[in-house]
Amino acid sequence: MKRTRIKELLNLEPSGQSVVVMGWVRTFRNNQFITLSDGSTLSTLQLVVDFKTMDEALLKRITTGACIRAEGALVPSPAKGQTMEVKVSSLAILGDSDPEKYPLQPKRHSLEFLREIAHLRPRTNTFGAVMRVRHALAYAVHTFFNDRGFVYVHTPIITGSDAEGAGAMFRVTTLDAGNPPRTEDGSVDFREDFFGRETNLTVSGQLEGETHALALGEIYTFGPCFRAENSNTTRHLSEFWMIEPEMAFYDLEDNMELAVAFVRYLCNYVLNNCADDIAFLANRLAEEERSKPQDQRSEMGLIEKLKFVVDNDFQRLTYTEAFEILKNSTPNKKKKFQFPIETWGVDLQSEHERFLVEKHFKKPVILYNYPADIKAFYMKQNDDGRTVAAMDVLFPGIGEIIGGSEREADYNKLLNRIRQLGLPEKELWWYLDLRRFGSAPHSGFGLGFERMMQFVTGMTNIRDVIPFPRYPGNAEF
Ligand code: 4AD
Ligand code: MG
Repeated sequence: MKRTRIKELLNLEPSGQSVVVMGWVRTFRNNQFITLSDGSTLSTLQLVVDFKTMDEALLKRITTGACIRAEGALVPSPAKGQTMEVKVSSLAILGDSDPEKYPLQPKRHSLEFLREIAHLRPRTNTFGAVMRVRHALAYAVHTFFNDRGFVYVHTPIITGSDAEGAGAMFRVTTLDAGNPPRTEDGSVDFREDFFGRETNLTVSGQLEGETHALALGEIYTFGPCFRAENSNTTRHLSEFWMIEPEMAFYDLEDNMELAVAFVRYLCNYVLNNCADDIAFLANRLAEEERSKPQDQRSEMGLIEKLKFVVDNDFQRLTYTEAFEILKNSTPNKKKKFQFPIETWGVDLQSEHERFLVEKHFKKPVILYNYPADIKAFYMKQNDDGRTVAAMDVLFPGIGEIIGGSEREADYNKLLNRIRQLGLPEKELWWYLDLRRFGSAPHSGFGLGFERMMQFVTGMTNIRDVIPFPRYPGNAEF
């Protein structure tokens, strides 16, 4: 007989039919009641064994964490707490678990502790829910773009280019780090490296993505990105996933509209398709909130926040307008910001972004037309000579969730900017070619997948929304 997943089994009418289930024991009470989880759903299944007829040695092996196969009759449950249960007729242990040593006890563990046992944490309710939502969110990304005729493009992971010019890249090399070949002047001779040149892990698929947008029209990428910044925050990972749509013939306005439609679609999708996991995560978050001092609690619950994004317009304003608001804000005047806002052109820090979103506007915000000097080289230069057609989408509790721009389509303007910034013009030959041959106005943005995951699951730390987080000092598993 084939196994039935708990998720499907719970949709059946219990009428004594025979079923086979397999999964991991959460608890075993009174030598009689097994709570079984198989990961297909948040819900567990109650199995009832007859300890009088069961072999005693076998009974002893039913322990928290053990993997079992059980066969029996699916019947309505006489007890409260579940609508149905399985009366077990035969049971086999597929994998024992020593209850003395199994790290996951049937009690609440801290998220910090669970991070240390990331290989076992998907067996908890919280991480099971997070990972099912992660899957649904990834699926929704593809349906959103597929429905709109975008082509999914796989940009390279190993590359020689540095899209963001931030310089925080992981080098990829086959050279012997302890004793690399040297050129005559003593520097490392990368001509002898595997690719015959310096390479790194990609920080963004954008530049390569643009090549395909200027051929296929609308494309998107969805892949891992790597940044070696030493950012030990709840919003940074060294390895994260990014979705980067890139569209020919879109201006900044079109770009912003797409970004709003996209994040709305994602919120709506998980509300409609992950209702039980989201309800569980909403409760978890509410509990976490209750342990905080009153003034630090969020005004909205998780589900309210998701619905708010679906139903409400985002506030749009220019960097210059935001700068004025921040400069005249109470925290700035009272010197409460760690980075005071004084002169136009300063980069906005997370404290400023959160002030705008959480305190001032109380809704998601899109900032656009940033000072050129704090943004990447490829952004379209505005006529004012000092700003670029950039946009950032800022979310409550997260800060920047999307960064994007209209791209500079003019060959000379782009070349000038590359020279001004001292970027490797030669290596960008192919990128410049796009402006030499059939250039077109085009735009795009990048959504940090894990930051979106944080928003939809309400998990406070980005390390808890990816199976195996990479961050400074940690690459376990
Ligand atoms: O603002 P960023 O650096 O923009 C780009 O990389 C552009 N190439 C995107 C584009 O226009 N196609 O990154 C985009 C988003 C951020 O808004 C953030 O959500 C996420 O990527 N992100 C990170 N997420 C987790 N950990 C990090 N270290 C991240 N760095 C950026
Ligand atoms: Mg950014």
